[in-house]
Amino acid sequence: MKENLVIAIDGFSSCGKSTVAKQLARHLGYIYVDTGAMYRAVTLFCMRNHLIDNDGNVSADALESVINTIDIKFTCDKPTAKNTTWLNGENVEDEIRRIEVSDKVSYVSRIGFVRSRMVSLQQQMGVQGGIVMDGRDIGTVVFPNADLKIFMTASPEVRAQRRYDELTAKGETVTFSQILENVNQRDYLDQHREIAPLRQADDAKVLDNSNLTREEQFALILQMVEEARKE
Ligand code: DC
Repeated sequence: MKENLVIAIDGFSSCGKSTVAKQLARHLGYIYVDTGAMYRAVTLFCMRNHLIDNDGNVSADALESVINTIDIKFTCDKPTAKNTTWLNGENVEDEIRRIEVSDKVSYVSRIGFVRSRMVSLQQQMGVQGGIVMDGRDIGTVVFPNADLKIFMTASPEVRAQRRYDELTAKGETVTFSQILENVNQRDYLDQHREIAPLRQADDAKVLDNSNLTREEQFALILQMVEEARKE
């Protein structure tokens, strides 16, 4: 039986990857890494430092000269299982989830040097195993030899509804159509970017959760973990 697996969870935006990845990490006593939060944190850094304009044009040279100094860390509060993302020592967990950041993140995450820096940080975090990492390129680029690769998906409408509920619960004023447009646009950009586009790894197990309850989904994932332990 294998211990300390490396588990890669990839898939489209807003299909519940981070919720399930967090739940799985907690269940197994593993570390959880939300790689989307890292790209969001770099995007927030760009927005605050005027390195990106409203059309998504990034001042690449200026960003490249500081990319290695951007410090991104995660902490997890054990009793509540709440994860916090820190950007240069500041708690940015709520700010990186805002729609303004979601609208711009694809322009930052498609840049080669941003991706190489994030991938190398992610690989360092996974050296010891015992990790659940979610993102778009975890099974294809970050950990091509992961012990278990899961590719999650759900229909765009189901995903937009989930994100809409999440944001309105936090008091953000957004419309469903605005969210659906953002989901569709990010799907397109994530799948069509030149470097590390979102795609299913050949050896990934597909999980479409459009019609699954959280409990059903988690039971399926635990089965996958058990199988991966035996391999
Ligand atoms: O999972 P998320 O929606 O928080 O991700 C934010 C953005 O970051 C998403 O539009 C795609 C990008 N991303 C990426 O390119 N590679 C990853 N490993 C994770 C996220």
